[in-house]
Amino acid sequence: MKDISIFGLGTAAIGRPEYINIRQEPNERCSLSSFEKKGLALLQFAFDKGIRYFDTAPGYGMAEQLMIKWIKNTPSNSLEIASKWGYTYTADFKTNAKIHEVKEHSIEKLNSQWNVSKTLLPSLKYYQIHSATFETQVLNNDSVLNRLSELKDKYGLVIGITTTGFNQVEVFEKAVNIEKNGNRLFDLFQITYNIFDQSFGSLLHKTKDPKLKIVVKEALANGRLFPNNQFKHYQNTYKSINRLAKIYDVGVDAIALRFCIDSIPAFKVLSGASKTEHLISNLKAANFKLKPDEIEELQTHAVNPKQYWTERKQLKWN
Ligand SMILES: NC(=O)c1ccc[n+]([C@@H]2O[C@H](COP(=O)([O-])OP(=O)(O)OC[C@H]3O[C@@H](n4cnc5c(N)ncnc54)[C@H](OP(=O)(O)O)[C@@H]3O)[C@@H](O)[C@H]2O)c1
Repeated sequence: MKDISIFGLGTAAIGRPEYINIRQEPNERCSLSSFEKKGLALLQFAFDKGIRYFDTAPGYGMAEQLMIKWIKNTPSNSLEIASKWGYTYTADFKTNAKIHEVKEHSIEKLNSQWNVSKTLLPSLKYYQIHSATFETQVLNNDSVLNRLSELKDKYGLVIGITTTGFNQVEVFEKAVNIEKNGNRLFDLFQITYNIFDQSFGSLLHKTKDPKLKIVVKEALANGRLFPNNQFKHYQNTYKSINRLAKIYDVGVDAIALRFCIDSIPAFKVLSGASKTEHLISNLKAANFKLKPDEIEELQTHAVNPKQYWTERKQLKWN
């Protein structure tokens, strides 16, 4: 295996069994204690494979608690943990829950979730607003912004936001210009970027600031990039990625992840696997590099961001 330092492990799927992914196989149900054991084992497996960047959040069920438990037995100077605040998990590990998560971008929520996340220090290096949008006005909330700036100074954290929705780029542009004490407040941006939603592509090529860290999530477009009959309109994309997967002797997941690595200047690209075999398959993206004409071919499969996010909204929790 080549250098895998570009990869991070996202912990959403090990923290809660339910999400909006199009699954290749039905979600296996198990007791909460074996779910927890599996999650801890995956963290260790990823670490043993060389992964040092882990992304978590209190909104991901038990994920942040798993991280807290796991780092107690795995002290490592090289660990880099990113957590978030802003979502509360409410599904109680039930797929049929009416409400899976509740968003609240208030100073009270920041303070109460920080009180738990700070247990991850000193491995906690990155602290993000979970899904910053214009609707919650969080980027205009001075008490929140001042508190984040205080945490940045006191603990040496890199402060970030995660973005979601068709206007991700506009949210990025607003956030990247926010300053506190004469310095940019947000240096890390966890964005959705993949073969279908390439809205960040051209902008990031123009951004040459080495201090700006871009972390890619949803590289597999919530499973929509795996060839399946539910999405007839993506058959041409599926042909392209299947063809490349054959050439490089990897799965389509590795092609989708490699596209992100080769087409934008990413700091990390997240794998969200919860099964070891899926993580192994994802990490095969480290074994090859796409050629310029192959990247160009994949770039032609971008869809309109509004269409992308409308379709994503219709995916069901399962
Ligand atoms: N800030 C936000 O709002 C936000 C939103 C989404 C994600 N994230 C972050 O990004 C991380 C990654 O999330 P993601 O949505 O991008 O995850 P992802 O990599 O697309 O993984 C999601 C699912 O894809 C499945 N998968 C991966 N490789 C596979 C393969 N080879 N064959 C079949 N299935 C495969 C995994 O199944 P198994 O579970 O069975 O392995 C996993 O549950 C999250 O964990 C989280 O940290 C953040």
